[in-house]
Amino acid sequence: MRSHELGAALAARLASGAPLALCYGTRPQVVKASRLVEALGERWELLTVDTGQHYDYELDALLYEQLGVRPPRFCLEVGSDGHAAQTGAIMVRAAEVFARHRPAAVVVIGDTNSTLGCALAAVKLRVPVVHVEAGLRASDVLMPEEINRRAVDAVSSVLYTPSAAATERLSVERADAIVVETGDVSRDVLLRSIARVAPLARPAGWPLGRDEPFIFSTLHRAELVDDPERLRRALAALGAIELPVVLAAHPRTREALRRMGQSASTWGNVHLLPPVGYLDALGCIRDAAVVVTDSGGVQRESYWLGTPCVTLRTETEWHETVQLGANVLVAPGLVAEVLPGAVREQLRRRLAPPSWDRDAYGTGDAAWKVRRALEQLA
Ligand code: UD1
Repeated sequence: MRSHELGAALAARLASGAPLALCYGTRPQVVKASRLVEALGERWELLTVDTGQHYDYELDALLYEQLGVRPPRFCLEVGSDGHAAQTGAIMVRAAEVFARHRPAAVVVIGDTNSTLGCALAAVKLRVPVVHVEAGLRASDVLMPEEINRRAVDAVSSVLYTPSAAATERLSVERADAIVVETGDVSRDVLLRSIARVAPLARPAGWPLGRDEPFIFSTLHRAELVDDPERLRRALAALGAIELPVVLAAHPRTREALRRMGQSASTWGNVHLLPPVGYLDALGCIRDAAVVVTDSGGVQRESYWLGTPCVTLRTETEWHETVQLGANVLVAPGLVAEVLPGAVREQLRRRLAPPSWDRDAYGTGDAAWKVRRALEQLA
């Protein structure tokens, strides 16, 4: 089907009164879904589907509480497993929901196994897929998230992008699809939430004085934490920074540390915390001297909140943050040599008021633009 035919077919389905399915399953997706549920739920009956890819309280239920998200209509409860088993379980269980309830379209978010599983389940049932956060690319084609986002972009009928670069790329790659630049829903959520974060708010168990300067860190990517030598070198480099580092560790990172026999919660200057809730994370990012991370979400939140960031990756899908000077990349293999200098560079930037343009990913009305773009398909 060509673009105009797709638009007309989808518009007819949406006008028929059929519900819209919205799928998510990991921590960052619950954050983004919080706004989409509101914006889309005002207009269509929503079949919310939480795959259960993330299930720990801090990665799931805590976000529902903090962001006031209604419980999902369907919990697929897939939990953790290998990529094939996890994605396959998501496909099978999502397909059952879609086959029974015949949504007009299935909206998926981002690049996780939940995104891929739900998108494939839908398209195999000939239900159109709408991809929010489409068009991002990294050059490592074997990275799980890269496989997921390319595959999902390839099977989606409608692609909503967070940036001009993503829009341009898809206009070439997917000339047969409907591509609309909406901006990033994460910014909507941040702008609505940041006023709720009190000055000097710190998560429970904070290891430092409330007004003591600190570096805030999160590390969770398989490429970094599943390689014990890389993780050890990253922790040693973090520990050598002159400021104390608070590392809010994802379960994957905690498990990697456990396998390495690291049971302490403090090594030198590095203090380990459990994963922190969304509002606590915003407070830490806002108040940190510098952020050190490998998370795409935390890179953007640092950029929006004006805190310089160092990203432990060789590349980022959010390259605008680097071009604007908000973010500096450090290859995980070179962390010992390069991280101290990169942190010092970003600390110097911290001393001046942040000067970068903050609108590279829209102005905070992305969820509303997604809704309007769906309404205007006809
Ligand atoms: C996933 C996404 C990644 C996203 C990240 C956000 C994929 C391929 N990756 O990575 O894009 O940035 O979520 O956090 O989908 N675990 C728990 N409790 C949980 C969840 C996970 O203990 O609630 C452990 C399990 O041992 C699991 C490991 O963490 O094996 C990794 O979880 P998984 O869902 O495979 O991917 P993430 O690393 O979280």
